[in-house]
Amino acid sequence: MDKFNFIDLFSGIGGMRIPFEKLGGRCVFSSEIDKFARTSYAVMFKEDENLINADITKTPAKEIPSHDILLAGFPCQPFSNAGKKKGFKDTRGTLFYEISRIIKFHKPKAFLLENVPGLKSNDGGKTFETIMNILEKELGYFFPDCPTILNSRDFGLPQNRKRLFIVGFKKNVDFHFPSKRKRKTCLSNILEPSDEVEKKYIISGKLWRSHKIRKKRNLAEGKGFGFTLNDEKDSYTRTLSSRYYKDGSEILISRGKRKNPRKLTPKECARLQGFPKRWENLPVSDNQAYRQFGNAVAVPVVKEIAKNMLSALKENEKN
Ligand SMILES: C[S@@+](CC[C@H](N)C(=O)[O-])C[C@H]1O[C@@H](n2cnc3c(N)ncnc32)[C@H](O)[C@@H]1O
Repeated sequence: MDKFNFIDLFSGIGGMRIPFEKLGGRCVFSSEIDKFARTSYAVMFKEDENLINADITKTPAKEIPSHDILLAGFPCQPFSNAGKKKGFKDTRGTLFYEISRIIKFHKPKAFLLENVPGLKSNDGGKTFETIMNILEKELGYFFPDCPTILNSRDFGLPQNRKRLFIVGFKKNVDFHFPSKRKRKTCLSNILEPSDEVEKKYIISGKLWRSHKIRKKRNLAEGKGFGFTLNDEKDSYTRTLSSRYYKDGSEILISRGKRKNPRKLTPKECARLQGFPKRWENLPVSDNQAYRQFGNAVAVPVVKEIAKNMLSALKENEKN
């Protein structure tokens, strides 16, 4: 498996593609419905934006090139704590069926699926059971290691971001999810020098006051977190979400007492998710960049999974 083909479904800005390409893979098909994400993807991977598939639901499987590995970080809102958890009752939840029909047609050697941990508990575990039944019983895939929740902060990033990873194989290979790294993380590793951060990232007095009022109210009512104020010495932040652009509430960076805090810059969000340096300047507005990084997968986590998947496939081919 030194050379292999893969497809990148629900590709976002290509967080899954980066490590698989680095490890020798050739991406033969990408699909992303969001126009702005497609713009970033096309520029970052030097591709023609018009050739990126826009809506996978409208694409017959036979129009997708054959491939060894299928990658899909499918939309998580239907299963996420932040959403209403409608699961398969939300049309975005049924996007899993797009993945299963493509696997059924192309029978890739392996696939990697990513979602929020809430997928496991959605609808009392029934959603996850349905997914695993389809992959295992209907499509005949093996799961040498159980679908696992990995946290970005165990892979060198100063962010508490837990995600569920499902890795299936056509043959019963010897695969294990990567183990945690021991290295300590620190938020200062990804922050820009404070004198280089533009003023526009400092939140307004009005927004800062409303954050504080909401936090007080949440505490009194015993619900939610409200904002989180981070210090550069903190080991990690909360999970960066796709709604970060709205008010930055989950990660505000302290600028000292009596000063309004600031949001992370898009460049810092790229680093928080472990993207290569080139991704620090996406060709879209700040708001779109925040959404794209909040939606993305943490690259170093996928890199470690990818290494293990490829060595398991390689070992299997030798035998
Ligand atoms: C969780 S994000 C995946 C992000 C990606 N893993 C990354 O690292 O950037 C899911 C993506 O699926 C896209 N999407 C949703 N419905 C789609 C559809 N019908 N066809 C193609 N992409 C779709 C969304 O726009 C979103 O960017």
